Order: sequence, then structure tokens, then C-alpha cells
Amino acid sequence: MQEFAGKTAVVTGAGSGMGKAFALRWAAEGMNVVIGDIQQDALDATAQEIKDAGVSVVAVRTDVSKLADIEALADAAEAAFGPVHLVNNNAGVEGYLDGPIWAATARDWEWTVGVNFWSVVYGVRTFVPRMLAHGQEAHVVNTCSMTSVVQAANMYGITKHAVIALSEVLWNDLRKAGANIGVTALCPGTIATNLFHGSRNRPTGLTDDGGNISADGEQLRERMHAVLAAGMAPAEVASRLVTAIRGGGLYLLTDHEWDDQVIARHEAIIASAVGEKAGA
Ligand SMILES: NC(=O)c1ccc[n+]([C@@H]2O[C@H](COP(=O)([O-])OP(=O)(O)OC[C@H]3O[C@@H](n4cnc5c(N)ncnc54)[C@H](O)[C@@H]3O)[C@@H](O)[C@H]2O)c1
Repeated sequence: MQEFAGKTAVVTGAGSGMGKAFALRWAAEGMNVVIGDIQQDALDATAQEIKDAGVSVVAVRTDVSKLADIEALADAAEAAFGPVHLVNNNAGVEGYLDGPIWAATARDWEWTVGVNFWSVVYGVRTFVPRMLAHGQEAHVVNTCSMTSVVQAANMYGITKHAVIALSEVLWNDLRKAGANIGVTALCPGTIATNLFHGSRNRPTGLTDDGGNISADGEQLRERMHAVLAAGMAPAEVASRLVTAIRGGGLYLLTDHEWDDQVIARHEAIIASAVGEKAGA
């Protein structure tokens, strides 16, 4: 996609962080903007900023882990503006960080995988057939992570490996179909957002009696929140995304800070094939 003005963008997780920056950027590009988030007050605040800029916006409270909510978001977008050209499958949470992977409860998995992975499945399932049907140039942005391409360290990493794999399959299937739809597997590094405070929006129905937050997990979240605060501004990610969409490639890494880890993972995999570094 080269031109943005006059087209329609849908952004999930638009109440905070990168989703908010993407929504504001699409508004600045002259697009109609449709936003979803589970946190109503944050969603309303983003909608107000867009309205104040004189741009048309539709805001729909959306739980991205529910297919019916994503379908309702798409219906609202089409009712207001017609065909959707750009979708940011962006909402995500830090998820379970509260112990070894075997100690995670079914609800830890359901929350983390629901928000980070099923959301993207539902976004693809809902928006891509509609994009194919309208036939105009379109683009899907799936927010992966640098953790998608380094050795997975936790449940979050598991979900982000899955999202990049889904993006690769989507890219290949769309190319095979000769579709006029681009895909960006966006891999942000360290970005100044509220990601490590994601538990603020964990549905009460998806917690166990103990509340699912360990003391160690809480400390880790606060340490990581401070690390992210020193990271790249979300608006800068939005700028790089515009360039990447116009460029047409599949992957967008926001920076080279994680290169050593990417190389180390892939070298360990290759080396294992010849038995040089068993267990690496
Ligand atoms: N911040 C980083 O360093 C970083 C790095 C790599 C990838 N990411 C990814 O970027 C994406 C955006 O996160 P962010 O960093 O801007 O964090 P953020 O917490 O600032 O924003 C995430 C938004 O998602 C919303 N959300 C949470 N659960 C939801 C649900 N069930 N339904 C709908 N909305 C929901 C939150 O309310 C929030 O507004 C996520 O997919 C995250 O995994 C972030």
C-alpha cells in the first residue's frame, strides 16, 4: 500500500502505547480510523484526541480474545466507512510471568494466548476475507515482537513465536492467491508503553483464587516497566511502520539491538544439526 489518505484503518489495543500511536498516525495520514480496546476510558481518550484533530473516528469496546467482538468491530468499521484497507492486530499483554511454565494454570494460558495469539487468528479470519472481497489494495499488520525471533523465554515468547509464524503463512498464502494485500510482521524491540502493566485489564473470570500474580512476577513486571520507559517512542514505531508498509516487505524489526540473540538462536539450531552443540 502506498497511499493512506481517504482509506480506512482498524487498530486494536488503541487505548495505550503503540496502538494509540498507530491510530493517531493513521488519523494524521488522512485515514478514517476505527479503534478497539478492552479498557473503555483509555479507548475514549484516544477517540477524543482523534476527534480533536478533526478526523472521523469510531470507537468500539473490544475484547480481542473474542471472535464476536472482532466481527462487531469490523461490522462497525464497514457501517461507518465502507471497506477496511488496513488492520493493526496490535492488542497484547505481558501475560504469565509468575513462575516456571509448568506451574501456569489453564486460566494463565487462556488469558495470555487469548489476547496475544487468538486475537490475531480472529483478526485474520475476520478482515482478510472482507479485504479479498472488496478487492482494493489492503494491508495487515500483526504486532509480533523481537521475542518472536529469539529463543522463547516465557509464555509471552511462545505467543509471539506463534504470531510471526501465522504472519508468514498469511504472507505466503496471499502471494499464492495473487492477492493485492500486504502483510507486515512488526517486531518491536523495547518501546515505551504500558505493556508490563497488562494485568490491569485481565478479566476477573480468567484469574484463579490466588490472583495469579506472584511476588517475583510483580517485581519483574515493575523492573521491565522501567526498562520499557527508556525505550523507543511509540510514535517512532508508527513512522517506521509507514515506511515498511510502503516498502512491501514482510518483516519489520524496529532496531538492531537484539541481533546478537537472533543470530545466537539460529546458530544454535544450525549447529545442533551436525551435533556440534548438543542441547544448545
Ligand atoms: N512495548 C514493547 O516493548 C513491545 C515490544 C514488542 C511487542 N510489543 C507488542 O505491542 C503490542 C501493543 O502493546 P503495547 O506495548 O503498546 O502495550 P500497552 O499496554 O501500552 O497497550 C496495549 C493495549 O492493549 C489493550 N488490551 C489488553 N487486553 C486487551 C483485550 N483483551 N482486548 C482488547 N484490548 C486489550 C490494553 O488495554 C492496552 O490499551 C502488544 O501486542 C505487545 O505484545 C510491545
